[in-house]
Amino acid sequence: MTILAGKRVVLGVCGSIAAFKAAQLCSTLVQAGAEVDVILTRAAREFVTPLTFQSLTRRAVYGDLYGDVAANPSLSSAHVDVGMHADVLVVCPATATTIARLAHGLADDMLACTALVSRAPLVIAPAMNVGMWEHLATQANVATLLARGATQVGPTFGRLAEGISGMGRLAPLEDVVGATRAALGRGGPLAGRRVVVTAGGTHEPIDPVRFVGNRSSGKMGHALAEAARDAGAMVVLVTGPVSLARPWGIEVVPVETARQMADATLGACEGADLLVMAAAVADYRPAVESDRKLKRSGDALAITLAPNPDILATVSARFGDRLVKVGFAAETGEVAAEATRKLHAKGAHLICANDVSEVGSGFGTDTNRVTMFGRDGSVEALPMLPKPEVATLIIARAGALVAARGGATA
Ligand code: CTP
Repeated sequence: MTILAGKRVVLGVCGSIAAFKAAQLCSTLVQAGAEVDVILTRAAREFVTPLTFQSLTRRAVYGDLYGDVAANPSLSSAHVDVGMHADVLVVCPATATTIARLAHGLADDMLACTALVSRAPLVIAPAMNVGMWEHLATQANVATLLARGATQVGPTFGRLAEGISGMGRLAPLEDVVGATRAALGRGGPLAGRRVVVTAGGTHEPIDPVRFVGNRSSGKMGHALAEAARDAGAMVVLVTGPVSLARPWGIEVVPVETARQMADATLGACEGADLLVMAAAVADYRPAVESDRKLKRSGDALAITLAPNPDILATVSARFGDRLVKVGFAAETGEVAAEATRKLHAKGAHLICANDVSEVGSGFGTDTNRVTMFGRDGSVEALPMLPKPEVATLIIARAGALVAARGGATA
């Protein structure tokens, strides 16, 4: 599970047409194992009903400070209890009124009371008309919340409910989830650490329309970057071409070729505490890249391949053991022997090996079965798990190696 598992999330929903999206967010959080307490403002109830969220969370839904208590006296201290026990408070969508309430410390509705009582991190996902968003009052209120440590996610530019385009659309829900995870992970075991993760395969151009590539989807690398972020790290993700959304709160460096990945990774490793090389780097590239499209002649075509740099070995040669280095080994047999060989040949501290010939383990799948081979001779076999869970376990192990060396950079 990710950092959301077992966490108490308060989801505050305000009166915006984007309120219907909060139901999907609520469902995602519940499926990730969070205990979600939903608070609907009075205006939110005009757009969505408590029953929607009650059905998703199987928990009471809060809202009317006085009416709820009249109907159910056991809720008489809900206005303080919910906030006191929260691990994170997420307001999505956050309207101009609620942002103003929270910025000014009002306590005139259930959501405002909860926010005032709570000391948990606050995440706001604004959604409103562009004029309201750009008004100096709203901007000042948001700045106040940010100065107090709140996390702002969105809004984005796009079509608004009024039919015009502008700034004010709710951020994509995966960003709201990412921001919530990052807020929960603040101060985690990798706080103050710099982590570099590589992901995806590389594309080695043959001509302007063709390339040599591989089947890597980038899912494992992206999950690792998110797990490192959730452990509190500052993360740089160097990624080959993938069709995955940019993870929230992570610096993404897109690259195409192995040589570009080598340059970006070596640059990012300067001052880093941990490198996780999950990328499937092409070992060879066409020796000559044609600047014109190759034409079909009907004859056999031979393309000479030239070797690419070994990025992990190059990092080891340049930085030695100044950072912890984790590599991967996707094998089709001889897993243990190959992992141990690569551990030493590339100067890694840990090699995460998997047998890609096993169904469900490897390229393009959502699951992976990994065995971690340590430089110290340790061997830890993980069961077949979803990639986000594998990532959490690998980052925990790598984080322990980083911690054992002491000296956080911040
Ligand atoms: N790797 C790298 N640079 C390369 C090739 C691989 O940094 N040019 C890294 C991978 O990101 C991975 C580890 O080295 O973390 C092992 O990758 P793998 O492809 O299994 O190893 P290779 O050295 O390419 O060996 P082979 O293909 O012969 O199995």
